[in-house]
Amino acid sequence: MTERRFYHCSSSERILYSAFLILMGIGYLMALTYLYTSHESHDGEPGLSVNDVAETYYGNRSGTRLEAALRGPMSGYISIDDRAEIVAWLKSGGDKAAFESSVKPVIERQCLMCHASEAVKQFGNIPPLDSYENVRLVATVDTGLSLLTLVKLSHIHLLGIGLILFGIGFIFCLAELNRYLKNGLILLPFIAIVADILAWFLTKWDPVFAYTVVISGGLVGVAMAAQIFISLYQIWFLKRPKVPKEFA
Ligand code: HEC
Repeated sequence: MTERRFYHCSSSERILYSAFLILMGIGYLMALTYLYTSHESHDGEPGLSVNDVAETYYGNRSGTRLEAALRGPMSGYISIDDRAEIVAWLKSGGDKAAFESSVKPVIERQCLMCHASEAVKQFGNIPPLDSYENVRLVATVDTGLSLLTLVKLSHIHLLGIGLILFGIGFIFCLAELNRYLKNGLILLPFIAIVADILAWFLTKWDPVFAYTVVISGGLVGVAMAAQIFISLYQIWFLKRPKVPKEFA
C-alpha cells in the first residue's frame, strides 16, 4: 500500500484543501499588513526595522515620551530655555511641587492650546497635558509592552498559530516530496513560532533579541508559504504517476 497523495484525493477534498490554504494565505498577508502599519513608526523612522521591534518590546529607555517629543516633533513650540527647564524636572524625578513651580507655567503658555483635554478630544491621538497626573503619563520611561500584555498576546498567538500550522501541515502531509525535506518543513514553523514568542520576552530584557524575533517570525512565514504553494501546486497539477499493470 503506497502512501496517500494529492492525486488520490476526490474533487471535494481538493476544493476544501485549496479553499482553506488560500484563506490562510490571505489571513497571513493581512496579519503582515497589520504588523507593518502598527509597528512601523515606533522609532520615528519610516519603514519597519529591527529597531521598531526592539522598541515595541524593550521600549525606548533612553528617555521619556515627553522629552522625545520636546526634542522631536514638538521642538518648534518651545524655547531652548523652557525645554531645559522641563528636561531638568524630568531628570530630577518629576515631583509635583517642582511641577507646579517650574513646569506648569511653561506648559500653560506653550502647549495647552493644543493639549488641553477639550482640544484633545477633537484631534484624537494627542496626550492631554492639563494636569500633573496627565503630564506624568508621558513623563515615565517607556519600557515597551507590559509583561501582562505579552502573556496575553503569546497565548493567543501560540494557540491560534498552532492550529493554523496544524491545518496547513495536515494537508501538506499529502504532498510528494523528499521525506526529510517534508518533515523538516512541517516541524520548522512550530519551532520557529516558539522561538519567536520566547524572543519577545527576551527582547524585553535585552533588545538584541529583536533579531531573533524578526528571523524566527520570518521562518514561520517562509515555511507556511512553502507548504501552501507546494500543496496548491500539487493539488491541481501533479498527475498520478503511470504504474505498470502488474503493480497497479
Ligand atoms: C499646534 C498644536 C500643538 C502644540 C502647540 C503642542 N503640541 Fe504636542 N502634539 C500636537 C499633536 C497634533 C500631537 C500628535 C501628533 C504627533 O505626535 O506629532 C502632539 C503630540 C505630543 C506628544 C506625544 C508624542 C508621542 O510620543 O506620541 C507630546 C508628549 C507632546 N505633544 C508634548 C507637547 C508639549 C510639551 C508642548 C508644549 C511645549 C506641545 N506638545 C505643544 C500638537 C501640539
